[in-house]
Amino acid sequence: MSVIDAVRAPGNTVARSTGDLVRRRFGGRSAARIYAAVLLTLGVAAIHFAAAAGHLAEYLPYGIFFIGLGLAQVGLAVATVVAPSRRLFIGAAIATTGVIALWVVSRITGLPVARDPWRPEIPGMMDMSATLLEIITVVLFGLLIPTPRKPKARGRTRIALTALPAVPLTLLAGWMAVGAVLHPMAAAFSAAPAVAGQATTSVADLVAAPGNEPLRAFTLTAGVVNIGGRQAWAFNGTVPGPELRVTQGDRVRVTLVNRLPDSTSIHWHGIRLPNAEDGVSGVTQNAVRPGSSYVYEFIAGDVGTYWYHTHQDTLYQLPLGLYGPLVVMPRAGIAEHRDYMLTAHWSPDGTILVNGSRSLHLDATPGETVRLRIVNAVNEGLFGGNPIRPVLLGARYRVVALDGHDLNGPQEIGPERIQLGMGQRADLAFTMPPSGAVELAGLAGSSRVVIGDGPMPAAVKVDSLRVFDLTAYGEPAPDPVADAGSFDVTRDLELAGAPAFYNGTYDFSDTFSGYTSPNVPPITVREGQLVRLRIHNTTADKYHPIHIHGHVFTVLAKNGHPLTGSPVHVDAILAAPHETWDVAFKADNPGIWMLHCHVLGHAYAGMSMTINYEGISTPYTMGTDSGNVAE
Ligand code: C2O
Ligand code: CU
Repeated sequence: MSVIDAVRAPGNTVARSTGDLVRRRFGGRSAARIYAAVLLTLGVAAIHFAAAAGHLAEYLPYGIFFIGLGLAQVGLAVATVVAPSRRLFIGAAIATTGVIALWVVSRITGLPVARDPWRPEIPGMMDMSATLLEIITVVLFGLLIPTPRKPKARGRTRIALTALPAVPLTLLAGWMAVGAVLHPMAAAFSAAPAVAGQATTSVADLVAAPGNEPLRAFTLTAGVVNIGGRQAWAFNGTVPGPELRVTQGDRVRVTLVNRLPDSTSIHWHGIRLPNAEDGVSGVTQNAVRPGSSYVYEFIAGDVGTYWYHTHQDTLYQLPLGLYGPLVVMPRAGIAEHRDYMLTAHWSPDGTILVNGSRSLHLDATPGETVRLRIVNAVNEGLFGGNPIRPVLLGARYRVVALDGHDLNGPQEIGPERIQLGMGQRADLAFTMPPSGAVELAGLAGSSRVVIGDGPMPAAVKVDSLRVFDLTAYGEPAPDPVADAGSFDVTRDLELAGAPAFYNGTYDFSDTFSGYTSPNVPPITVREGQLVRLRIHNTTADKYHPIHIHGHVFTVLAKNGHPLTGSPVHVDAILAAPHETWDVAFKADNPGIWMLHCHVLGHAYAGMSMTINYEGISTPYTMGTDSGNVAE
C-alpha cells in the first residue's frame, strides 16, 4: 500500500486535505456547504470592512466594532476550512444569528451604544445585502450541524459545482465593499468655498438691514415631548408647531432654543429672506447645538401661506415633528370671514393627520366666506414621494393661491382634487352653502375636515374626480419673468435615479442629471440674471417636488405647452413621472441657495444641489467632520 493509499484508506484519521476530512466526516454534500459558507462569510466581512471605513470618521467605537467583526468573520472562514467541526458550526450559526439580530435592532429601535443612542438607522442596500448573505450562512452552518446517517461520497467536481452559486454572491459583496470605500462620504464639503486671492462676500454677512419696521418676536423651543404615548420632537411642545402669523412688512425675529439631544436649525420655507437667515445647516449657518440658541430675523415681504421646519438632518428630524405653519397677512387683511390653517402631516402610526388630529371640525355659518390654507407637510418617505390630493365637497371653490402666491382671476371650480407635493401649499376660498356642512376629503385613510354644521355632503368616489390643472386656471396677466422670452442662464435637470455608490455606501440614489449631492454641479448665477430650468422627470413612478430656496419660480410650460391661465408663482414645482416643466426665476437675492427635491428621502438619496451667486462664499461646511447635515 502506498502512502497515498494509506492516507485515503477508509477510517484513517490523517486526512490528506480538508476536502477529504470533510468528505469523510460530514459527507460530500457538506463539503459544498462548507465552501459556500466560507465564501459568503468572506463577502460579509468585506462589507463590514467597508462599513468600518465610513464609521471610523463618524463614530470611532463603531469603526472599531466593524473592523473587529470583519476580522472575526475572516477568522471564522479560516477555521471552517482548516478545522471544521460540529462545534464550530454551532458557534458560527449562533454568532451570525447574533449579528443579524443586532442589525435588526439597529434598524428598528436603534442601539443604546451609538453616536445617537436609540436612533434607528435607515436600512440600505449594502447592509441588507450583508444581512441576506448572513442569513444564508446561518442556514448553511445549521445544515452542517446534524450528523448525516450515511455520509455520501462525492467527487471534487460535484462539490465545486454545488458550492458555485456562492461565488457570484461573494464577488458582488466584495465589489460593493470596494466601491463604497472608493466613494466615501465627504469629511468636509463646502457648497461655495472662499477662493484664496478672490474677494468674496460671506453668506454670514447677508442679513436683514436694520430698520424700524414693526417687530414681531417669537421664541420656538425645540424639545423632546410625549404626544399620545409616542416621543416627538416639537417646537413649543406641539406637532405641528405654533402658527406664526405676521403682517406684511413686519420685522420677524424668532429665537430658536435647542433643548433637543441633537443639533438643529429652522428654515423658513418659501419666504424670500436674506441668505444668512435661511436656516440650512452647513450652507447658511452651523447647526444650533443642544443647549444653545440662535436668532433669525427677516422682513416678511411676501403675503401668503408658508411654513417653517428643521433643515438639519431633515429626513430624520422633520418627521419627528419639527415643523409648523407661517402666515403673512396683507396689511388690509383678507376678504374672507374665516381663515383656517390646515397642516397635513404624518402621525407616527402612519396615518395622515390635519393639525394633529384625525377629524377636525371648523366653525362657519351659512353665507360666510372661508379660506383654507392647506400645507402638505406629509413626508411620503423614501419611495414614491406621492402627493396628497385633497378635495372640497359641498361647495364650489376657488384656488386663490399656490405656495402663498395669489392667482389672477381664479374662477369657481367643482370638486377637483388639489395635488400638493411635499412642502407645497394651496389656499382655497368658498362661501358656505345655505345649509349643510362642507368637507375636505381625499386625504389618505379616514382623515377629514368638516366645516360648518348640518348634513354632510353626499359621498363621492374621490379617486375618480378630476385633478386641478394649474396650467389652465384663472385669467392671463402680464408677468415680467414669463414674458421675458430669453434667459441668461439655462439648465436642464433630469430627475432620475439608480443604485449607485455614493456617501460611503451602495444604495438607491435619486439624481439631478446623473449626479448625487454633494457632487451636483451648482447653478452659477449673477445678480439680475434670468434663469430658466427645464425639469424633466424620467422616472416611471416617482413624484419630485423640486423646491428652490430664497426665490420664486414662475411656471413657464408643462410638457412644452405654455400656461394658458393665470401666471403661477411657486417655490416648488411638482414633477410627476414623465412630466417636463419649464420654470424660471430672477436672480435677485444673492447667496448660496438650496435647490432640492422636497421628498426628504429623495434629497437624502442625492437629489439636492445649490444655486451659487458669483462672488459669494460660505464659511460653513457639510460632511462628517462638521456636524452639519442639510438633508
Ligand atoms: Cu422646505 Cu430645503 O426646504
Ligand atoms: Cu423627489
